[in-house]
Formats: sequence, C-alpha cells, structure tokens
Amino acid sequence: KTILVLNGPNLNLLGRRQPEIYGHETLADVEAACRAACAEGFDIRQAQSNHEGEIVELIHGARDTACGIVINAGAYTHTSVAILDALNAFDGPVIEVHISNVHRREGFRHHSYISARADGVIAGLGIEGYAAATRRICTLVGA
Ligand code: DQA
Repeated sequence: KTILVLNGPNLNLLGRRQPEIYGHETLADVEAACRAACAEGFDIRQAQSNHEGEIVELIHGARDTACGIVINAGAYTHTSVAILDALNAFDGPVIEVHISNVHRREGFRHHSYISARADGVIAGLGIEGYAAATRRICTLVGA
C-alpha cells in the first residue's frame, strides 16, 4: 500500500529556507523518515509542487494509487478551498503536517482550510511530524 507524502510551495527549499524556523533537514530527509516509519506492507511516494493546480491534480491521482495522504500544503493551507475540495474527493485518511508551530506564529497562519478534512493535525514537531503522520496513516488503513 502506498502513502502519498505531499508537500506544497517553498518546501522544495526545506533545509535552506529560514532554517531557524524549519530546521536544516531536507525533503530527502523527510522522505527517508517517512519510509522508515512505514508499517510492513506500506511504502511512500513523495511529491512536491509550488503550484496549487498541480497539488489538486496530485490529490486526484492519489484517488486510485494511494491509501492515505500526508500533506503539508505550506502557505496554501491558509488560502486554498481548491485543495480542501480535492481532499474531500479522496476517500482514505489524511493527516495534515506543519513543521513549525503555526499557532505560535502570525495570526494568518492560525486558520487552515485543510483541517476541516484532516483526520489529524500535527504542528511544531519538525520533520518528526511527517513520520508520526505516516505511522498514523498505517494504523488507520490497517493491515
Ligand atoms: C508550514 C507553515 C505555513 O504557514 C507556511 O506557509 C509554510 C510551512 C510549516 O510546515 O510549518 O510554508 O506549513
């Protein structure tokens, strides 16, 4: 079973972008942490896009190819009804991840459109949040 680990805008720069907020680890480290967190019989597919419509299409693609989604939609978290709608058209579990604790930051980061669909929300655990989210998807999907 495949879990889609989907990262949104600016997360391609992870490790180099504002490391005081997001840390020094990269998306390759995220991918390795998620793969290591998979229960037996599960694997991950990682995708990243800076484009809202492409993220919508990656979620559409997951309808037939993934059993669950771990998503960090970056700034689109706070703006995108389109990504929420796409996730609403996906049947499996969805866990929302934020590397930073968005609730300790600017007010515009406190609201998430994605949380209305997510089965769980993780913020402020650094990239460990992706591993926890992956484990949770495995639990929810089951053997
Ligand atoms: C983020 C938090 C968002 O507010 C921000 O726009 C990001 C990353 C996080 O992982 O902490 O790009 O989702």
